[in-house]
Amino acid sequence: DDDNGAAPPDEYDDIVSALPTSTTIGLRHYHGAWVSEWRVRGVISAQRRFVPRPGDMLLGSPPKCGTTWLKALSFAVMARDAYPPAGAGHPLRRLNPHDCVPFMDELFSAGQQAKLDALPSPRLMNTHMHHSLLPASVADNPACKIVYVCREPKDMVVSMWHFLRGAWRFTFAELFEWACEGKTPNGPVWEHILGYWRASRAAPERVMFLRYEEMLADPIGHVRELARFLGRPFSAADEAAGLPASVVELCSFEALRGVSARSVGSCSGSRVEFSHQSYFRKGAVGDWTNHMTADMARRFDAIVEDKLRGSGLAF
Ligand code: A3P
Repeated sequence: DDDNGAAPPDEYDDIVSALPTSTTIGLRHYHGAWVSEWRVRGVISAQRRFVPRPGDMLLGSPPKCGTTWLKALSFAVMARDAYPPAGAGHPLRRLNPHDCVPFMDELFSAGQQAKLDALPSPRLMNTHMHHSLLPASVADNPACKIVYVCREPKDMVVSMWHFLRGAWRFTFAELFEWACEGKTPNGPVWEHILGYWRASRAAPERVMFLRYEEMLADPIGHVRELARFLGRPFSAADEAAGLPASVVELCSFEALRGVSARSVGSCSGSRVEFSHQSYFRKGAVGDWTNHMTADMARRFDAIVEDKLRGSGLAF
């Protein structure tokens, strides 16, 4: 089927079905990561088939850590000549950000990677893959850049709970136990964060490391940094025209949530469809206090602290 984009890569089913499995949400353990069964195929296929291009920009994140926001901001920055951020006709005023920036893992899982080949350069894509699982051709490529966003892990668990509970039956207590063992989609989240953190420390000009809480505290400052990193810095004229603020406004939680877009089904093969609104729940820091007891929080914090010890990173 080589890359004609038709069939999902079911040639990996033997590999996938031999992997250890866990939790009711169907995760498989693949090279140290817990990946949903459907996505493992995409990971393997991407590792074997992804063809990088100079200028590729990959947005990385664990699920529920600000992916949608980062996709919107990056798209708005990159496409601002064609689509002025303040313009009424901007695609982000009618589409979900996931329909503006393609999801590499999903496309490879569905055998639709030809859609990536069809993109004009420089390409903007996103992934939930661990850094260690990325195709070497992009992870080690001096001509490709990665922007990573992560989030305080307890808030990630809470966000994940609200997102997944619409599609699967489990309690918050169950998800919490899985999270303590690292068994969340694309978990363990600490391994996910550490991989990109180390890559960013080693090559800060190629891997930008962002934190959701810091972005919320200073969105305009972060958009300026993002634009610079993506090779599209705001000029003095852009600044005078208030472009950074326009981008932030266009991509604000309220603005994006208010868009009436169709549901985001992702490509064929994925079992679940999510409503546009399900990507915009609360957009706040510290919602874990409404879901975890002090004991749960202490226990999870201790695990994360232990895993991050010595890395120079803390939450
Ligand atoms: P909450 O569930 O805590 O509200 P992802 O995009 O990786 O799935 O992450 C989803 C989280 O980002 C959700 O967190 C969601 O509300 C929040 N979010 C989505 N768009 C946002 C935006 N424009 N600004 C701030 N937060 C946003």
